[in-house]
Amino acid sequence: MKKIIVAIDGPAASGKSSTARRLARSLGYVYIDSGAMYRACALAAIRAQLDIYNTTEILHMLSLTDIRLEQSEAGNKVILNGEDVSEAIRSEEISRLASDISAIPIVRDRMVELQRQMALEGGVVMDGRDIGTVVFPQAEVKFFMIADVCERAKRRFKELQDKGIEADIEIVLSELRTRDENDTNRKVAPLKPAPDSILIDTSHLSLDEQVAILRQHIKQRVERQ
Ligand code: CDP
Repeated sequence: MKKIIVAIDGPAASGKSSTARRLARSLGYVYIDSGAMYRACALAAIRAQLDIYNTTEILHMLSLTDIRLEQSEAGNKVILNGEDVSEAIRSEEISRLASDISAIPIVRDRMVELQRQMALEGGVVMDGRDIGTVVFPQAEVKFFMIADVCERAKRRFKELQDKGIEADIEIVLSELRTRDENDTNRKVAPLKPAPDSILIDTSHLSLDEQVAILRQHIKQRVERQ
């Protein structure tokens, strides 16, 4: 089967990352978590105590920041200037700042450039907010995953609990809403479905079901080419 690019976009905690990771593994593809790259930028900015709205400071930070994604059994390892920050980037504070920093055009330009370099050979499943619209408008298959916001809050709350991070479900819910609103209403690369994307509502689907549905669509699209 020809190695293609699969783009998966959607709001926070809609099931993109876990589905993308499993899907990539089952296809023998590389999984690229683009959100992790914005999260790593946010962590770099916090550590450097930057004013993210100061363009000179941001440009300087970007020039000194090396972000890599390494494939591992558990998914992507996120390496920031040689340090494994896979866990450190998952806090709610970083989620908030990632959403703010990702609305800055120079940050997006740099991340999109890296994302395109990572997919030069094809055989990639990439998830995010703008993968089907901006990063790879030519992707062979595009999905837009959604789920009821209360269901998404439950999932994110459980993820945090499983990692031993204390959380309050009402706060998780309100932060998801705020982030969705920021991501949808920003000027650059807003969260929205590409016109040729396939809408998948995961509210009542299990992970296995999601992966099976996506695989079926991919099979049909690739066979049609
Ligand atoms: O895992 P979750 O859905 O909570 O978020 P994420 O995919 O790790 O992304 C964190 C933040 O990065 C999002 O809220 C977006 O603001 C931003 N992001 C983006 O702007 N573009 C992408 N392609 C991926 C993430």
